[in-house]
Amino acid sequence: MTQNDTASGFEVHGARGAFNAAFFGTMGPYIEWNVRQHKRRVFADLPPTVVEIGSGVGANLRYLRPGSTLVAIEPNIPMHRRLRAEAERRGVHLDLRDRVAERTGLPGGSVDSVISSLVLCTVTDPADVLAEIRRVLRPGGTFRFVEHVAGRSGTPTRALQRALRRPWAWTFEGCSCERDLAGLLRAAGFARVDIEPYRLHTPFIPFNTQIAGVAHA
Ligand SMILES: C[S@@+](CC[C@H](N)C(=O)[O-])C[C@H]1O[C@@H](n2cnc3c(N)ncnc32)[C@H](O)[C@@H]1O
Repeated sequence: MTQNDTASGFEVHGARGAFNAAFFGTMGPYIEWNVRQHKRRVFADLPPTVVEIGSGVGANLRYLRPGSTLVAIEPNIPMHRRLRAEAERRGVHLDLRDRVAERTGLPGGSVDSVISSLVLCTVTDPADVLAEIRRVLRPGGTFRFVEHVAGRSGTPTRALQRALRRPWAWTFEGCSCERDLAGLLRAAGFARVDIEPYRLHTPFIPFNTQIAGVAHA
């Protein structure tokens, strides 16, 4: 384990970890404003206990009812202080786990609902994470997601995603704008997957091609 590894084995990127916590703390409201209609749809009527992978600084706490419990799988320690403060502000019980989404440590078939936003772009292997989500969901449970994905090949957006891949990944701690997450979700063995692709209109062009949906275990 290096000095920058947490107990989960996740590598914390020193100053970039702090930068990302501050970035999502500051830009959170702007990102939220852009994706709010999609989140309202897929995160509607969440059960009283929800598991979230990659909770960051708590962008999705607003979709849980006050008094609910969020089991937050978030290995990036620089995010934790803001996440705790936001949970308190929203009246949500926070069960914060310094673990990676690939190995949540949760019992199989024990979870009603898993949520994520803008996380499958960053994990080392999204197929592994989807397998773990399927493992922990009970039959009929749901994985609800809002994620950014690769643009259609041959488009200017896709070319920009390719051109910026290195500085983007460096700045945003491994984030890739080139993942076919819809394909991975459909191949992950869920009983049913409903996916809506859409496009944002923001200056952050590589991030504008997105999907939102629900996968049913
Ligand atoms: C782009 S941020 C999104 C945060 C939040 N979900 C949001 O929508 O604002 C990606 C988050 O995924 C977390 N993350 C990265 N790799 C992870 C992993 N293997 N397991 C769980 N979380 C991870 C990061 O620490 C970060 O909080």
